[in-house]
Amino acid sequence: PSDFSLRGGRAATVLVLGAGVAGLASAYELGKAGYHCTVIEARDRVGGRSMTLRGGDSVTELPARAGAGEPGPAAAGAVQRVTFGDGTYFNSGPARIAQWMVTLDYCRELGVPLEVFVNNNASAYVFTAGMKAPVRARTARADAYGYISELLAKATDEGALDARLDDGDRERLLDFLSSFGEIGASYEYSGGDRRGYRVDPGVGPGTALGPPPALSDVLGEGLGRMLTMDAGYDQAMPMFQPVGGMDSIVRALAREVGAANIRTGTRVTGIMNRPGGVEVSVEGGAPLTADYCVAALPPHLLARIPGNLGAGVQAALGTPVPLSAGKLGLEYGRRWWEIEDRVYGGATETDLDLGHIWYPSYGFHTDRGLIVGYYNTGADAETYAALPHGDRLRRALAQGGMVHGRKYGANLLASASVAWTRQPHIEGAWVRWPSMNGFSLLQRPAGRVYFAGDWLTHLIAWQAGAFESARKVVTELHHRVLKEG
Ligand code: PHE
Repeated sequence: PSDFSLRGGRAATVLVLGAGVAGLASAYELGKAGYHCTVIEARDRVGGRSMTLRGGDSVTELPARAGAGEPGPAAAGAVQRVTFGDGTYFNSGPARIAQWMVTLDYCRELGVPLEVFVNNNASAYVFTAGMKAPVRARTARADAYGYISELLAKATDEGALDARLDDGDRERLLDFLSSFGEIGASYEYSGGDRRGYRVDPGVGPGTALGPPPALSDVLGEGLGRMLTMDAGYDQAMPMFQPVGGMDSIVRALAREVGAANIRTGTRVTGIMNRPGGVEVSVEGGAPLTADYCVAALPPHLLARIPGNLGAGVQAALGTPVPLSAGKLGLEYGRRWWEIEDRVYGGATETDLDLGHIWYPSYGFHTDRGLIVGYYNTGADAETYAALPHGDRLRRALAQGGMVHGRKYGANLLASASVAWTRQPHIEGAWVRWPSMNGFSLLQRPAGRVYFAGDWLTHLIAWQAGAFESARKVVTELHHRVLKEG
């Protein structure tokens, strides 16, 4: 069912620049309404950052960024050949979808099957510099809730909060804390079975983990952020992933748009408004013309493309700053995290420069499995981005070994890493607006050129942002066509 219709209008032509989610969604929606779209994509595959890697793929990187003086060992750029086995995939870009995001509506409409993405697992670990050894998230949470409840309950009971609480509130707060922190009537946190077991209960009662560390040690763990990761509006469980890989979404969009209407391997070299239309020049071919253009490339790349969009637009495009993020996929020939650690999906949160370790939410109990050995951003991502793949792998294995021990280095079959600042024709994981100057200017078309992408929304770094932006632009373009006939 189409949201738009031309109602007898002339079938306008649109050049869509970029076959990422924003570009493909624009072409898909315009196509449903009867527009003729041509999508121009510089890379040899569609999807942009929605890139799922499988055996047989290769990952080409730009040379490491100059700047720090010497051109590091990765300076030449490099190609990784991905050798994952059948059925193994690695979502090197987006990997999780929240329930409220429009991305799920597109999955429904396009027939992309979903499964749960385990974004929070009490059995996974937390590990910070303040800790001697990693502990299960459940254990850390029990101790944090327990001690905080104890402190607050004692302060309340001693009357320290009387200025804030009347008698009824005092009782209700104490009642809340006694169950919230499992501190009972004594208001003492001494640890309970929330902490977990050394030997799980069964026919026998099991062996509990035992008493918690001292309050001061628990405070020293510095876990506030790690215990609340899934409290974020966009990170709450249940989250979802397409069965078989995130690129199911972009492949379904490309199928609907039609392969014949998508030109990969074609770099845009100029964007011009002309009287009554747009002209887009491309490398190694004649210029293309159409009634309208939807420019769905990253802003830092658009800013480098010559054209006549005006100084204000040019400055606005140059405003967002590309940010770094990276991921490493580790394929193992044994799902030791399930067999030995009883961890089925979810993430270990650390303050190591690997950031997070993700356990797979698919393929439970199969022979192989893929762990995300690092997912980091900012300076940590830049540290890894500057290294050749082999060094990234060694560093991530050494760090992951601090969480999982020797088994982390065993049974490894294959690996692949992506540093988003070094991906050709993308050059960033997502962007940050240092000031909102330019944000509203680019919400409007420059002549007949519209801009689309997650970078023009309040959902930066989500496919949902790309979809929302595409829907807005297509709606506006269509209203204009109806008006101007
Ligand atoms: N969407 C990305 C992710 O879920 C990046 C992101 C992380 C965006 C956290 C917002 C908050 O990992």
